Amino acid sequence: MSTITVDLATKKYDVKIDNTLHTRLGQEISTVWSARKIALLTDSNVGPLYLKDTAKQLREAGFDILELEVPAGESSKSLSVAGELIAKMATAGFTRGDGVIALGGGVIGDLGGVVASLYMRGIAFIQIATSLTAQVDSSVGGKTAVNLGNTKNIAGSFYQPDLDLVDVTYLNTLTDRDLVEGYAEVVKTSALANQDFFDFTGQIKSVVDIRHHAQELSKRAIAYKASVVMADEKESGARQFLNFGHTFGHAIELLAHGELRHGEAVAIGMIAISSRFEQHGIMPRGLTTELLSRLEAVGLPTQSHFIGTTDFFNHLINDKKNHDGVLNLVALGKVGQPIIVKKKIADMPAFVEN
Ligand SMILES: NC(=O)c1ccc[n+]([C@@H]2O[C@H](COP(=O)([O-])OP(=O)(O)OC[C@H]3O[C@@H](n4cnc5c(N)ncnc54)[C@H](O)[C@@H]3O)[C@@H](O)[C@H]2O)c1
Repeated sequence: MSTITVDLATKKYDVKIDNTLHTRLGQEISTVWSARKIALLTDSNVGPLYLKDTAKQLREAGFDILELEVPAGESSKSLSVAGELIAKMATAGFTRGDGVIALGGGVIGDLGGVVASLYMRGIAFIQIATSLTAQVDSSVGGKTAVNLGNTKNIAGSFYQPDLDLVDVTYLNTLTDRDLVEGYAEVVKTSALANQDFFDFTGQIKSVVDIRHHAQELSKRAIAYKASVVMADEKESGARQFLNFGHTFGHAIELLAHGELRHGEAVAIGMIAISSRFEQHGIMPRGLTTELLSRLEAVGLPTQSHFIGTTDFFNHLINDKKNHDGVLNLVALGKVGQPIIVKKKIADMPAFVEN
């Protein structure tokens, strides 16, 4: 088993990575929690596959389990769903000494984190990450949020778990599209991290390869993300590097109105920004092609007709990360060397079109 410790000023917790964790959940959770009530939160896809067995293991370890299932999908990441869950916990007599476990992908992790952070001003929280996106990205770092209407992740907080369990066995039931979407973030992380990791993603030539190497990919991606989060928990510095490809990606994702997944839009965003920075001599020649080959090898999209449209620029203006008309764009001086390039929104049309 690999253990990566996230050691922050206010909290220290382990991310455990192993393909047998799903068989000994009670034992693992007992290492950080005494007997207590647990709100075991999942969604309508993950629930039928794993909820009963997870609850059974936890009950056998002495925990008192309240099973909570919400509809799968982004629409469950809302304040109203969080409120309903909190009400159910209150009715079941949850106190400040109890806890929430998120069993699922990024939606359940983000929603579970919000519920845990709000219930009685904050109770203990654990993640069992079941999608690749959750394993390599969302379960690490403590960002929790729900959406308000069309505005994603607008209400939330930094709320770190007590433990994060990553078992690639769960990925056996994940669809290829969901898996590949998460892999876009792995390619991103490998380019940000170091040449060794980037060479490793260079060897991934198919979806089967992702599945075969999932544990090693997760381990490396989590190690990088944990190091960035430890350097900058609240995203005022190095954590911004994780937004590589995301500024353009978010705009494209919104314009696609659900046709593109987040990771797919980020894949397009990475190529769009890299090719421009390469043309401007900020990124080294050939790096865009290297990224492109990794993304296309697993069927990720890398182009979009939305780039350069008026709506695209309007979304950049409304980007949460637009500060006083300036965007902090992430570029790569070389593999393993991310940098922030400040661009005025007013200069974006010329930057995008040339
Ligand atoms: N907090 C963060 O730092 C952070 C980072 C990245 C993404 N996110 C958030 O994460 C969400 C995206 O994550 P996601 O792609 O995991 O979404 P998701 O939770 O909706 O999972 C994707 C799909 O896979 C299903 N699923 C999950 N695990 C499964 C399994 N083992 N077997 C079968 N089906 C399974 C889900 O039911 C869902 O249908 C977004 O809401 C995004 O905003 C948060």
